Amino acid sequence: MKSFFDSFIKERVEKPVVVINFGGQYSHLIARRVRELNVFSIIMNYSIVDKKILEEISPCAVILSGGPCSVYDEKAPRIGKWLLEQDIPVLGICYGAQLIAWLTGGHVEEGVGEYGRTKIHVIERDPLFEGWSDKYVWMSHRDYIVEVPGSKILAYSGNNYIAAYKLRDKKIYGVQFHPEVKHTVDGIRIFENFLFKIANCRKNWFVKDLVKPLVEEIKKTVGERDKVLVAVSGGVDSTVTACLLKKAIGDRVVPVFVNHGLLREGEVEEAMENLGKIGIKPLYINASKRFIEKIIGTRDCETRRRIIGEEYARIFKEIIDRDPSIKWFAQGTTYPDIVESGSIPYTDKIKTHHNVGGLPEWFKVNIIEPLKWFYKDEVRMIGEKLGIPKEIIKRHPFPGPGLAVRVIGEFTVKKLEIVRKASKIVEDTLRKYGFYDKVWQAFAVVGDDQWVGVKGDKRVEGYIVTIRIVESEDGMTADYPRIPYEVLDEIMGKITGEIPEVTMVTYAVTPKPPSTIEPC
Ligand code: XMP
Repeated sequence: MKSFFDSFIKERVEKPVVVINFGGQYSHLIARRVRELNVFSIIMNYSIVDKKILEEISPCAVILSGGPCSVYDEKAPRIGKWLLEQDIPVLGICYGAQLIAWLTGGHVEEGVGEYGRTKIHVIERDPLFEGWSDKYVWMSHRDYIVEVPGSKILAYSGNNYIAAYKLRDKKIYGVQFHPEVKHTVDGIRIFENFLFKIANCRKNWFVKDLVKPLVEEIKKTVGERDKVLVAVSGGVDSTVTACLLKKAIGDRVVPVFVNHGLLREGEVEEAMENLGKIGIKPLYINASKRFIEKIIGTRDCETRRRIIGEEYARIFKEIIDRDPSIKWFAQGTTYPDIVESGSIPYTDKIKTHHNVGGLPEWFKVNIIEPLKWFYKDEVRMIGEKLGIPKEIIKRHPFPGPGLAVRVIGEFTVKKLEIVRKASKIVEDTLRKYGFYDKVWQAFAVVGDDQWVGVKGDKRVEGYIVTIRIVESEDGMTADYPRIPYEVLDEIMGKITGEIPEVTMVTYAVTPKPPSTIEPC
């Protein structure tokens, strides 16, 4: 049987926490909270979890995520009752709590729904609530739990719905609220209690201590002679990947910076300078013409992504063909991408994502992804430990296909220039007011729609530019920050003033979900 873990994890981490995903939007947040408490966690889709695989992984605890279904839906994601019969502590969250209730022969019903901040009342003393009195929690459910046979109710909500319960004589719990969400006051305490007071999990995940082993692992994988090509962009993930490689194999790493003409203003100079500071001197390839010519006139973002991905691969292949000692291609792929693309044995493919799915079939080179077990904040910690300067560590994520995914509808050079200029204004203004480091991403987007404007007493038709600024912990869920109107005013004034083709600026106020962060 193919092992679930590669040797890096297998040799270092015993008894992780398994988060079983039932389609909940917060599953990655749950996994991250557990890791914040220094316990390694992984996410597995419910459909692939069985007794055998849990035996192999041997988790210290299992957490069942929320999900969009009702347990009574015909196609509801479920797991067998066998899970409750193992000697593994289980915490069900929201849908997960309803599922445990259903599995025990209990009863769930459609109710009035509780959404947002809700006060709960703890009625039983239990290790799960140690150090935790009645507090505000984050609820997001319509169905509610009516009955759980063989359980002790631990807390109720204001609507008298069961907010938490425990199966008697078992380490199995259900909470209707979301302790993983920041709006649940002191939610981390619930995880702390569950992991350490109930499940006896051991702290086994100290990211900064993993730098040395990561370097060793790369050395072992690549061997004594081969060279590794690494594409660098000046962003956090690729820079950390390149630095780890450099430490492991020195000059046998071949960093390449491809300018696809879809970068932000001043980005090439800034990235090259920043990389130079840490001793990485990439081979610079200006392929702007090549890329832009291929995507001009395209309307569909996915098509653009594919064209760009293929063009990248062609360029890398050309370099590899010139130097046969390059046997490896390194990518800065991180854990959420790996989970979603199903690249770990036994995981289900949800969608082809970014780096992972971007390489065409014919690109036959060994792939090395040293960051594939880490979340972005963990990659940043590794970067800090490696001594990478703050300017790089704190940079906002920027998609591989660059500004191409921020042009909605037909791709034209004019729209690309608008987005480039407007993005610079957004970033610079946020920096000026100290907001840049506080948000996950901030950029501009342009589509095909026009808005009539008056410029210099003349009626003109111009483009609509949308400002997208988001706060997020991992890019999987996001919300818009309540930026002061004066800052938005300044952004708007500069965009309409400095970019003649723009007559309207809007601010995107839709969280993820239902929107995604990038427009397409
Ligand atoms: P979405 O738009 O899916 O984005 O909410 C989540 C995070 O992923 C980044 N993103 C990409 N990164 N290639 C990348 O390398 C892509 O095609 C791509 N699309 C989105 C996005 O910027 C956000 O941080």
